[in-house]
Amino acid sequence: MRIVAEHLSYTYNAGTPFAAKALDDVSLTIEEGEFFGVIGQTGSGKSTFVQHLNGLLRTPSSLKRGKKKDGTVLTVGGFDLTDRKTDFRALRRQVGMVFQYPENQLFAETVFSDVAFGYKNFAEKKPEAGEVERAVRDAISVVGLDYERVKDMSPFELSGGQKRRAAIAGVIVTKPEILVLDEPAAGLDPLGKREVMALLHKLKESWCKTVVIVSHDMDEVAENCTRVAVFSEGKVQYVLPPAELFRRTEELLRLGLDIPLTAKLVRALGQRGVTVDCDFTAEDLVRKLLALGGDQC
Ligand SMILES: Nc1ncnc2c1ncn2[C@@H]1O[C@H](COP(=O)(O)OP(=O)(O)O)[C@@H](O)[C@H]1O
Ligand SMILES: [Mg+2]
Repeated sequence: MRIVAEHLSYTYNAGTPFAAKALDDVSLTIEEGEFFGVIGQTGSGKSTFVQHLNGLLRTPSSLKRGKKKDGTVLTVGGFDLTDRKTDFRALRRQVGMVFQYPENQLFAETVFSDVAFGYKNFAEKKPEAGEVERAVRDAISVVGLDYERVKDMSPFELSGGQKRRAAIAGVIVTKPEILVLDEPAAGLDPLGKREVMALLHKLKESWCKTVVIVSHDMDEVAENCTRVAVFSEGKVQYVLPPAELFRRTEELLRLGLDIPLTAKLVRALGQRGVTVDCDFTAEDLVRKLLALGGDQC
């Protein structure tokens, strides 16, 4: 399923004195199989954009009877999200949404019932006996938790990283084709961050076809994403692979964004007359530096 947005705009509290334009004519396409990154300063519209992808935020024509379509395109696979008649419940089975700090939404008495809630909530029909248990077991195992050990534990007994995994399990339990995560690694320690990113790659290989992350960590984006959309004041400024995006150091800094450590090193070397052409992953930078030989480094 590919995601297509054309001329997508969104205003909070439209028609009131508190109106706030959060998206302004956003057009971008996310292909099936991507590990897509969404970056931008706080308030640039990242969360507003991704919350459209599972119909949590909706276009006016999808909400009001008789409201004419206005040239906005928003499709996810065969789902037309500008259409009132679209089965948004079916959409939500296909597009899993993990919010910022998802562990804050864990509420059930046990890890099992929390993850099971995610399944029952979106199930097409009343699940058959054994079906829920199987789905919950698979989801808890795939996120790297020990099912037998954690299933009867309270979510609050888990460590920070484990809680995040349990929360992710509650979303992927329906096996969505597309998994969207708003700042999935925020607030975790460096090891927890690496583990979550490794988990997302594993999920993409075995479980969900497409992963979309919102991130403010440029190293994370450089290391993990196939392409990146840069949001600024509700508009999309660039959609590029990291290897091309992070060459535009000066433009990104002007937009108030950070750049990855690798891009900072390449920039510092450039200022000393050493040109390094890399894709801004640490591995590629090290390889290119070693290839330069001892005289220049
Ligand atoms: N629930 C809301 N009510 C009113 N304004 C909002 C709401 N959520 C976000 N906004 C505004 O919309 C803009 C975009 O916000 P958001 O999509 O959350 O940005 P980001 O995720 O990039 O930080 C900001 O100006 C923000 O203040
Ligand atoms: Mg946000």
